[in-house]
Amino acid sequence: MLKDKKIILGVCGGIAAYKAVELLRLFTKAGADVNVVMTRAASEFVTPLTFQTLSSNPVHTELFNLIAEQEIGHISLADRADLVVIAPATANVIGKIASGIADDILTTTVMATKAPVLFAPAMNVNMYTNPIYQENEAKLRRFGYFFESPVTGALACGWEGSGKLASPEAIFESAASILTEKDLDGRTILITAGPTREELDPVRYITNHSSGKMGYAIAKAARRRGATVLLISGPTSLPAPAGLQLIKVSSAVEMLNEVMVRVADCDAVIKAAAVADYRPVVRESSKIKKSGDSSSIRLVKNPDILAELGRMKSSSNLQTILVGFAAETDSLAENAAIKLNLKNLDMIVANDVTQSDAGFNVDTNRAVIFFRDGSSKSCDLMSKDDLADVILDQIAMQIRETP
Ligand code: CTP
Repeated sequence: MLKDKKIILGVCGGIAAYKAVELLRLFTKAGADVNVVMTRAASEFVTPLTFQTLSSNPVHTELFNLIAEQEIGHISLADRADLVVIAPATANVIGKIASGIADDILTTTVMATKAPVLFAPAMNVNMYTNPIYQENEAKLRRFGYFFESPVTGALACGWEGSGKLASPEAIFESAASILTEKDLDGRTILITAGPTREELDPVRYITNHSSGKMGYAIAKAARRRGATVLLISGPTSLPAPAGLQLIKVSSAVEMLNEVMVRVADCDAVIKAAAVADYRPVVRESSKIKKSGDSSSIRLVKNPDILAELGRMKSSSNLQTILVGFAAETDSLAENAAIKLNLKNLDMIVANDVTQSDAGFNVDTNRAVIFFRDGSSKSCDLMSKDDLADVILDQIAMQIRETP
């Protein structure tokens, strides 16, 4: 989603400057071409060499640089940018820009650019709540500048309160959202993610290898594209994505209940969750004690949530687009086609989970999307974020084509 985007990362002087290094890594990992611009104070905290090495681009610290001035360095930088992100942004730099002052490479670049600008402020809590700062921020917001607000926490100055730089992930997400076309605006998309947990007793459960990464990637991508997102998630270790409704569940039955009460309001349901097919017949209230040399567990079939939705769609006027996933170890196309028909789906994303770079627990995936009309689309190895956008492209297309 940020592939080949030209981003200027402005770094101001503050202890949070080291977090800009992590933000730079997120941008470059997503394929962006990043030019770092530092204030003089910023280079007291992190050396330009760190940013230069990680961005593979020269770092800009001086307004007048004899080499860059061949093409008026700060102006050409500002002209070429798709987005300017300033993280951390100090009260001083925000105040200068709000007042139209351009007296160094960073403020000059911001004043000269026509690209969107995102500020991620970081400062002492009393500076942050100072009405002068607040007025500067409000003024910039009125002019269309974006802000990723600081969070509350222990500040480097010893105070506790608001002023801590937002996490690099949150700033990255805001940046990605600014650069994304809102083609799912006004649409509601429900996504299920992660494994389910079927308890045997208070200590043990049956589950699977799903990490939730694919479902969370789709949820974040749908949010960026302007959709209202409902993410129903089994237990995962992933952080809650910002800006969407996260409903946490444990078992397949809980997931079914949460899906069913919401489906009627959704334009699409994407079932990326790896739902356990069976659960123990009995969930013991006390820990099962060890006895004998062997043991067996009696299981009963779980409801098939997607099949239930497919039945609802064929027996009512439910218009929701249904998207399934098929995790297969063999006969990918045949098994996916069977599931697509049996569950009455609009499309199914099939992936071979025996490959080490696709399926469970990795950041990449390789899939084939099969459609109701018998056509298919192969997606070579790509990040789960990119695959999320390919799936959403198909959904957006179907929504557009639906009268
Ligand atoms: N699914 C579901 N409820 C279940 C089982 C599966 O909603 N009880 C959904 C999954 O979320 C996925 C699709 O059905 O979108 C296919 O899941 P998968 O585990 O690949 O296949 P199953 O239908 O369970 O069949 P099998 O395990 O025999 O391959």
